[in-house]
Amino acid sequence: SIPAWHPPTRGDLRSPCPGLNTLANHGLLPRDGNNLRRAVVVDALKTGYNFDDALANGLFETGLTTNPEPNATWFSLEHLNTHGIIEHDASLSRADAYTGNNHAFNPSIFAQTSKYWTGATLTPTTMAYARIARELDSKVFNPEYAFDASREIQAWGESAIFTAALGNIQEGTADKNIVEYFFKKERLPVALGWKKQAVPVQNSDLAHITNLIGNVTGSVPVLLTPSENPLRS
Ligand code: HEM
Ligand code: MG
Repeated sequence: SIPAWHPPTRGDLRSPCPGLNTLANHGLLPRDGNNLRRAVVVDALKTGYNFDDALANGLFETGLTTNPEPNATWFSLEHLNTHGIIEHDASLSRADAYTGNNHAFNPSIFAQTSKYWTGATLTPTTMAYARIARELDSKVFNPEYAFDASREIQAWGESAIFTAALGNIQEGTADKNIVEYFFKKERLPVALGWKKQAVPVQNSDLAHITNLIGNVTGSVPVLLTPSENPLRS
């Protein structure tokens, strides 16, 4: 069963990741957001979202890359804030590092995203369009905007991961109310009738949804610099 939800209290570390903040708010990860070790992270991803061992271990290892200590065996939610490792510009719900806060939920940034999630159900199409909207906004207003093709794939993966946790994996869709509740409250949306996936979520599920989203736009000529644009010779 899932421990009670509490918002963070003074001194608790939180991150730019709504998925991990949610687990910490439920006490599935340490509520202080510190000292996240492999066993506790893998277990939390399983208990909270039914992610399988391979997926959970891979995600943990990605998180480890943000601890500057050599051969680290843990990371904190604060480590995840480091700009340019996992954290990147044009997030769906956070401002760019250039503004001074790349980690707290930002209602006006999220309102941009939400505007492009038209309809009661998010689809690969609306997820792809919302991504592009955020990227264009950052490109225009952030003089230090950095985003390349590999970030684009990562960012599709971030929409895929909330869809895998909250929505319909085969279709790549999710209920907008459930997704908004999750982002805004950083709470498992049990009160809205959500249940974790019955079948363990695998790496291949994430790849499947990432492809559905990526296939909407293909490469991203609007967002690349001219030299990176495959359409220019
Ligand atoms: C974003 C790390 C698991 C959902 C991020 C970011 C980091 C991160 C550093 C910031 C990227 C950015 O700049 O937007 C991790 C690590 C995980 C993990 C290390 C596991 C060990 C999860 C899970 C979910 C999730 C399980 C969903 C249930 C998201 C979403 C974003 C994100 C939706 C994008 C937020 C936005 O664009 O505003 N994650 N994450 N993550 N993460 Fe996680
Ligand atoms: Mg970011």
